[in-house]
Amino acid sequence: MVKIGLDGIRQFVEPEHLNYTAAKAALAALKDGSGKGNDFIGWVKLPETYDRDEFARIQAAGKRVHENAEAFVVIGIGGSYLGARAALELLCSPRANEVKKGPAVYFIGNGISGDDIAQVLELVKGKSLYVNVISKSGTTLEPALAFRIFKKYVEETYGKEGARERILCTTDKARGVLKGIADREGYESFVIPDDVGGRYSVLTPVGLLPMAAAGIDIAKVMAGAAAAMEAYLKEENDNPTLIYAAARQALYNLGKKVEILSYPGENTRFIAEWWKQLYGESEGKDGLGIFPASCELTADLHSLGQYIQDSERILQETMFRFEKSVNRVEIPMVEEDEDGLNYVAGRDYDAIFAAAAEGIRRAHITGGVPVMELVAETPNEETFGQLVYFFEIACGISGYMQGVNPFDQPGVEEYKKNMFALLGKK
Ligand code: PA5
Repeated sequence: MVKIGLDGIRQFVEPEHLNYTAAKAALAALKDGSGKGNDFIGWVKLPETYDRDEFARIQAAGKRVHENAEAFVVIGIGGSYLGARAALELLCSPRANEVKKGPAVYFIGNGISGDDIAQVLELVKGKSLYVNVISKSGTTLEPALAFRIFKKYVEETYGKEGARERILCTTDKARGVLKGIADREGYESFVIPDDVGGRYSVLTPVGLLPMAAAGIDIAKVMAGAAAAMEAYLKEENDNPTLIYAAARQALYNLGKKVEILSYPGENTRFIAEWWKQLYGESEGKDGLGIFPASCELTADLHSLGQYIQDSERILQETMFRFEKSVNRVEIPMVEEDEDGLNYVAGRDYDAIFAAAAEGIRRAHITGGVPVMELVAETPNEETFGQLVYFFEIACGISGYMQGVNPFDQPGVEEYKKNMFALLGKK
C-alpha cells in the first residue's frame, strides 16, 4: 500500500491545520453519495462492483490483440488516454515498442498534429494492425479526426469485414457518434459506465483494454485496486488518502498554490501526466485550486531545479517513489577509477536514488518548499491499481474539502466553442 511521510511539511504547517474532520466528512460524502457531482462517483466502488462479463470480454479482446497484432493504435485524449499510457509505461516500459514482445503500441488522437498522424501511419504500414478508439462522449474532435483517418486505413487495408475484427470501440453504452458508428459497422464495443467520468475511468475498459492488449494482467490491477479500496475508504486518521488531501489543502491555505509531483524516472512520467489531469480538472474551478505541476527526478532538477529551490515560495512538493525497482543495477568497481566513482561501486541504482531523493528533499525544505513523501512498494500490476485508487479517492476528498464539484469540467468547453466557431462547425 502507499505510505505517506509528512516530516518535510512539519516546519511549515501546524498539525492542527490538517483538517481531518473535513477530510473525513468529504470521504463519507463520497461513500454515501451525498456530495456535489454525485452522479459521477461510480468509480468509488468500481473495484468491487465492476461488470464481470464486460471484464471477461476485455480480457478476451486484449488477448486477441496481443496475440495477433504487430501494431496497436490507441486513439483517445485526456481521461481517455493518460491512464492507459501511464500503465503501459510503468508496467511495460516507455521503450516497450523496441522490445519484440506483443504489439508495438501507438497513442494518437491526443492532440492536433498532422506530423504525428503521418508518422504513426508510416510506422504501422505493412504490420498487422488493430485499433482501439476511446471516447466517452464520442464527439471529441482530436480522437474523432484520428479515428476517421485510421478507420479509412484499416478498411482500405483489410476490407470492411477485416475492420470489424480489428477495430474496437470504447464509449458510452448508448449515446454519441462513436456508439452510432460502432453499431452500424458492427465493431465490438466496450462500455464506459455512465457514472464514471473520463479522468476517473482508468479501471474501466478505457484503461483496461489497452493494458490487456499490451499483455498486462488486468485481474491483478483490479485486485490491487480492490485492496486499496478496502484500506482507503476507512474514515480513520491514519488513512493516507485523508492525510494527503488534508495536508495539500492545509498547504494551499498557506499560499502554497502550486503542487509539484516529483517522480522517479521515465517509466512514471505518465503517472504524473495522468495525476495532473486528475487534480487539475477536478479542483481548478470557481477561482480556486492547486495548480498541478510535475518534476522528473533527477532529470528536471537540471532544468527546473533552480526555480524550485529559489523562486517565489508558492510551491509544495509531493515526492513520489517506489521502495524497490524491478531490476537491480549495480555500479561496477573499476581498477583505474578515472571517473572517481569507486566510492559508489557495489551500490545499486535504488540506493543511489534514495540518497539523491533524501538530498533533494532536504534541499527543497531548506529552500522553503514543504515536501510530502508518497512511497509505493514496487512497480507491478497490483501497485498500479493501488496507486490509481489512492490518487482518485484523495482527489475526490480534496475537491470536496475545497468546496468544488470535483467531477465536472465546465472550463474545458470554452476553447472548444471558439475552435468550432473558427472551424465553421454548424
Ligand atoms: O476527464 C474528462 O472528462 C476529460 O478529460 C475527458 O476524458 C476528455 O476530454 C476526453 O473525452 P471523451 O472521452 O469524451 O472523448
